[in-house]
Amino acid sequence: AIDRAIRPKSLADYIGQSAVKEQMDIFLSAAKGRGEPLDHTLIFGPPGLGKTTLASIIANEMGVSLKTTSGPVLDKAGDIAALMTNLEPGDVLFIDEIHRLSPFVEEVLYPAMEDYQLDIMIGEGPAARSIKLDLPPFTLVGATTRAGLLTSPLRDRFGIVQRLEFYNVADLATIVARSAKIMGVDMEEGGAVEVARRSRGTPRIANRLLRRVRDFAEVKGDGIVTQTIADRALDMLNVDVQGFDHLDRRLLLAMIEKFDGGPVGVESLAAAISEERGTIEDVIEPYLIQQGYMMRTPRGRMVTRNAYLHFGLDVKGALSPQS
Ligand code: ADE
Repeated sequence: AIDRAIRPKSLADYIGQSAVKEQMDIFLSAAKGRGEPLDHTLIFGPPGLGKTTLASIIANEMGVSLKTTSGPVLDKAGDIAALMTNLEPGDVLFIDEIHRLSPFVEEVLYPAMEDYQLDIMIGEGPAARSIKLDLPPFTLVGATTRAGLLTSPLRDRFGIVQRLEFYNVADLATIVARSAKIMGVDMEEGGAVEVARRSRGTPRIANRLLRRVRDFAEVKGDGIVTQTIADRALDMLNVDVQGFDHLDRRLLLAMIEKFDGGPVGVESLAAAISEERGTIEDVIEPYLIQQGYMMRTPRGRMVTRNAYLHFGLDVKGALSPQS
């Protein structure tokens, strides 16, 4: 099945994130009751937790269309103007990676968000003039990995701000079981829990691992995803029992082996593992920090005791006697 088929369409089908769900349920009901569009909404959190899914649920629940774009593709004021003038009243305009908007596009967004006014310059030199247009009322939904990346005038224009958290194993197992059912995969509960435990708290990873575990079950087993099958498939995929993948282990080991456990600056770490700084900050470290394997300090990143123990080392980095 393709992603669209397993993506929940209503808030009721959205699993986990209970605080977000409880609030959004109220804000959506209230806006609908008043016959107004939902207030502009900012969704932030690590990749793969369902920011786009939540935007499409908002549009669905409001009974309007979703128009999707992303920060990096809008480079001229005219690009965002074209999108906004094509909206129907009440529509949701979803801007992914909204922290990567150009300053020109941001300038156009401010009056559009505040007063549904489009205010742009057309032409150049002496012939240049400014035109003002009324826009239909709409909801801007912005998504970003970290709220701190937004300029404060932009952040201040969102009436609703939601932060998505990593999912616990029980919620992820429910998501995996639901996806398996939609995809027609025969899966035992133990199989769903095993996939969930090893998915870094992230539905996108869980759904990807589910597909690979299904392949394994069909070729190496009888097609049923038991816990044993899931366990063997995930070992083969180099996802360890803690759910850490190759990149997670590389980052932690680099801190231990090359920087004595830290503190070490993120730029040095990026160079040591040949990854971009942004990948470390947005993708790799949030989960490791949340799980208590490393921390961010004013002097740089440091591993915790857990990281040494994970690799069978004692806290001085030597192989511990038990291992
Ligand atoms: N797929 C991705 N995120 C989900 C969620 N929160 N609930 C159900 N299915 C999902």
